[in-house]
Amino acid sequence: MRFFVDTADVAAIAELNDLGMVDGVTTNPSLILKSGRNILEVTKEICSIVSGPVSAEVVALKAEDMIAEGRKLAEIAENIAVKVPLTWDGLKTCKVLSDDGLMVNVTLCFSANQALLAAKAGATFISPFIGRLDDINLDGLELISDIRQIYDNYGFDTQILAASIRTANHVTQCALIGADVMTAPPSVIKALATHVLTEKGLDQFTKDWAQTGQKII
Ligand code: E4P
Repeated sequence: MRFFVDTADVAAIAELNDLGMVDGVTTNPSLILKSGRNILEVTKEICSIVSGPVSAEVVALKAEDMIAEGRKLAEIAENIAVKVPLTWDGLKTCKVLSDDGLMVNVTLCFSANQALLAAKAGATFISPFIGRLDDINLDGLELISDIRQIYDNYGFDTQILAASIRTANHVTQCALIGADVMTAPPSVIKALATHVLTEKGLDQFTKDWAQTGQKII
């Protein structure tokens, strides 16, 4: 499973990228706001660090305007994936930009039927939001599983990009289900390294080592 990092924080992206943890990046208008940066400038900087797909989201609501924004975003770098919302106009935009040969990430997906439409419109990525479904007591992971089965049933090559990931368990379950990609904030990716027994074991080893009175260097 490929790891995308869900942030527009350039320093955080660079740190994870140096460790080989970043296969791509996803941003959205809220993350651009949080970064305090200009969308074109920060996206260009991210694309200079990361060679994999970098999603940049359109903000217009009508297809004609979305298409114009998408083409402008795609000019930033060759690895831009234009992110469009899962609305009828977003699907029209997806079809046009996909036919142009651009990568398109269809976002804000909350149902298997929406994912089916995105695949038929030629989406490169579909982004089902797990955490936001869990927030309203629905099963986000079940949606990932349903989309996996539907795409496999019919051989769609749209990649499932599990989004709105909030926990380490979300990551494990997405990997078991067979999501192609997951995108998570840097804090969640870093948290994957932690385990209470790792900390306990290391604490014991450190104490025992001190008692040996030895040094390696
Ligand atoms: C994905 O592309 C979205 O930017 C993101 O995963 C949304 O996550 P949130 O629901 O935690 O805001």
